[in-house]
Amino acid sequence: MKIISVSLSPNTEKDDVNLATSFIFKFWQWKKGKYIPKLENRFSEMFGLSNCLTFNSGRSCLLAALNAIDFKEGDEVIVQSFTCNAVINPILKLGGRPVYIDIAEDLNIDVNKIEQAITSKTKVIIAQHTFGMPCDIDKIVSLCKKHNLILIEDCAHAMGAKINGQYCGTFGDISFFSFGRDKVISSVYGGILSINNADFLKKASDFQNKLNYPKNIWTIRQLLHPVLVNLLVFPMYNIIIGKILMALFVNLGILSKAVTKDENQGILPNYFPQRLPNALAALALHQLEKLEKFNSHRKEIANYYKKELENDTRYKIIFKEYDNKKEPIFMKYPLLSENSKEIMEKMRMNKIYLNDGWSDSTIMPPMTSLEKMIYSKGSCLLAESLSKKIVSLPTHINISIDDAEKIVYLLKS
Ligand SMILES: Cc1ncc(COP(=O)(O)O)c(C=O)c1O
Repeated sequence: MKIISVSLSPNTEKDDVNLATSFIFKFWQWKKGKYIPKLENRFSEMFGLSNCLTFNSGRSCLLAALNAIDFKEGDEVIVQSFTCNAVINPILKLGGRPVYIDIAEDLNIDVNKIEQAITSKTKVIIAQHTFGMPCDIDKIVSLCKKHNLILIEDCAHAMGAKINGQYCGTFGDISFFSFGRDKVISSVYGGILSINNADFLKKASDFQNKLNYPKNIWTIRQLLHPVLVNLLVFPMYNIIIGKILMALFVNLGILSKAVTKDENQGILPNYFPQRLPNALAALALHQLEKLEKFNSHRKEIANYYKKELENDTRYKIIFKEYDNKKEPIFMKYPLLSENSKEIMEKMRMNKIYLNDGWSDSTIMPPMTSLEKMIYSKGSCLLAESLSKKIVSLPTHINISIDDAEKIVYLLKS
């Protein structure tokens, strides 16, 4: 029986596994190399972004961005609840204070609640486009102009999404994208920062130049990820061996974790920030060329879910209706249900693993210490309530219409 998962190397295809395998043996190409500038240039060209700099994660991009704007201890960042601790930890690392704003029904920041949270210490607004649904960026741009704040667009989920025909990531002074293992495209770890301001760009570029490349052991771990997960773990996930192997690989340090225990406690590991190694740039570049295929596939699967489930009163489809100026890419397709836990369990029994770490908390993954994130319980009620009901359906390239049919069948039965 085919395994369906939202998070086990979802974007990887056979050619990606082959490419990663070939780089395992080309150790002299791991650190510096031609793929870094190639990726930075291709990315700028594809999205009409002015200047792009690669780093070893979205987290590192955000750290570079905050450094570039001379972010200081005590500065405040307006950020939405229903986010990842990877967004909060760079702020905490620099002594900043995240100020959480509740979400609207589309899982993006509620723009009507931002202005009242702006103080003399506010320096930045982070605009997150959750699961590939563009947020109400026009209103955030106006607020930033009115209060002289810096806009950082968090496009970790939204590569290729558009508003009014314009790509997400081109509205702010700064934007960043992630190539994390379960993002829109993937090199297991990696990210790219775009800066639309000469002064900030100079600082971010100097920052990038001073950083080290990750140690070889770190890079090999990421190169092994698509190979081991696709050739060993995934085929045996049905029988318990795959799960045991996965746990073993992670515990022995052969594969990396997406988020470490320390990060759940507000501490960034010392390999963030670092530069993106050439070998991972090559994987990301290869995936970037498939972006259009990936995103049209996501839209097709999302349309199918919508058609099949929109009249089922047991579920509320989060992205059912939206402003027609927005062109989402549906990195995932979230639903709300009063029985989200039972649904996930029923799916699991049918070898469909929907647990992506984006439920049960306002800051993901759910093991995150809200206290360490300086989040007060009860401060963002909608995020707290929706996170208990959410079930996100997969849309990635390895989900066929038949797989989506199976998911729908189980949801309806
Ligand atoms: C919304 C959001 N922003 C930023 C990040 C950080 O990206 P990365 O995992 O590449 O550090 C993540 C994921 O971790 C995310 O989900």
